[in-house]
Amino acid sequence: MKQKRVHIITMGCQMNVYDSEQMLRHLAPLNYRPTAQQDRADLILLNTCSIRKKAEHKVYSLLGRLVRLKRLKPDLIIGVGGCVAQQEGYRLVERAPHIDIVFGTFARGRVASLVQQVEGQKKRVVDINPRGASEPLCVTGPTFKTGRATAFVTIMQGCDNFCTYCVVPYVRGREISRAPEEILEETRLLIEHGIPEVTLIGQNVNAYGKKNGHGCDFPALLEKVNDIEGLRRIRFTTSHPKDLSDRLIEAFPRLDKLVPHIHLPVQSGSDRILRRMNRGYTKDFYFKKVEKLRDMQPDISITSDIIVGFPGEQNTDFEATLDLVQQVGFDSLFMFKYSDRPNVPAAKLSDKVPDAVSGERLSALLELQNGVTLKKNEALVGTIQEILVDGPSKRSPDQLTGRTACNRIVNFANNGDSQVRVRQILLVRIVKAFSHSLFGHLVGEGHREHAGENGGLSHAA
Ligand code: SAH
Ligand code: SF4
Ligand code: F3S
Repeated sequence: MKQKRVHIITMGCQMNVYDSEQMLRHLAPLNYRPTAQQDRADLILLNTCSIRKKAEHKVYSLLGRLVRLKRLKPDLIIGVGGCVAQQEGYRLVERAPHIDIVFGTFARGRVASLVQQVEGQKKRVVDINPRGASEPLCVTGPTFKTGRATAFVTIMQGCDNFCTYCVVPYVRGREISRAPEEILEETRLLIEHGIPEVTLIGQNVNAYGKKNGHGCDFPALLEKVNDIEGLRRIRFTTSHPKDLSDRLIEAFPRLDKLVPHIHLPVQSGSDRILRRMNRGYTKDFYFKKVEKLRDMQPDISITSDIIVGFPGEQNTDFEATLDLVQQVGFDSLFMFKYSDRPNVPAAKLSDKVPDAVSGERLSALLELQNGVTLKKNEALVGTIQEILVDGPSKRSPDQLTGRTACNRIVNFANNGDSQVRVRQILLVRIVKAFSHSLFGHLVGEGHREHAGENGGLSHAA
């Protein structure tokens, strides 16, 4: 069979990164191999995101550019999958007639048969149907991992929370957890491929196993993953504060491979706005969770997401958010301007915040957080950190880049063979702090003395 090339453009969150790899797994039996070169591809897939308006616009501008390529190569197949595909369905084909396939998030496992239909009959196909009862949620192996030393492993899909601003429950469906045996098998396969760190992903991993009756909740799953031989580090994302249990908090000091980092999106510091967002907790509830986390794991790094300009947000609400950010002292923060999404309840609220006001609030929040992050990073200067090496730094190829256990990016001068060092854990002394990264000097290979067999610890030395 002729070897063919597929180029996948992945937008959005880690779920999509994982899903793109799933697509490659499904396409491998049709003899499609991944290529980084778009103009050499026989098949181009866009794996799209709809979380904010900007993300959706990006899809249309990319599609606009692909028209030219399709004119030059009439046999080129263009497919659009992911969250915008699920949301728009047939409307996408009407807007961009050069698309051959539209496949929603539930049709990801059918991508190979859709491609075959286009190859055979030269007709357009749209599949935004639900997943069939006998279709697996995910398929394990083979892997196409390149680049970073961490690999995402999906442990659940969908979301039942219906935050009033969010499109995810509509485009990803109800929460469904993957069987623990599959997760463990996939993790073992990754280790065989030389991947030392896994990031367990889902929209709300704390709810893992609550519905599906696999007899295993999230802390129990973490324990099983922690027991896998050869694995060095475990991360997970994302956690919903309302479902963060004491057992999960207690897992941090107990499980030696679990890194001291949690991404715990708070969204707002105002109880009134949190209620309107349907988040299911108050500012005080959130503070208590942060306190418990820090009591249990004093060096834990806490990161978060915040939306400014949610409908009805007054200056006093925004000030409450600034207060919260100041008081918690997040290690880093993702900040977004509220964006109306199709069909979500918040879109129907009438008291929208003018864009200019949201913009000012975003700048004020950014400024506050940049100062906090820089201070936190500066506190690490002089310490020795265990860095898991991702590869050569993009900006200065003579340097290597990697991450501390608490997920900070560290660049350091490389005086050895980069190929050998990728995916190793090295000891680096931090000498300089910036607001988004750290710079250091290599001081040794492997673990710090007494760091324990599994490493993954990053206490200041
Ligand atoms: N499941 C995760 C996050 C999913 S989306 C969670 O519950 O935390 C990632 C982030 O995008 C959210 O945390 C939120 O801050 C932001 N976001 C989601 N919908 C948005 C919208 N309509 N406008 C602006 N930001 C949004
Ligand atoms: Fe969206 Fe809320 Fe679900 Fe996160 S928890 S994916 S913000 S609905
Ligand atoms: Fe975007 Fe879909 Fe993820 S909307 S953030 S790609 S679940």
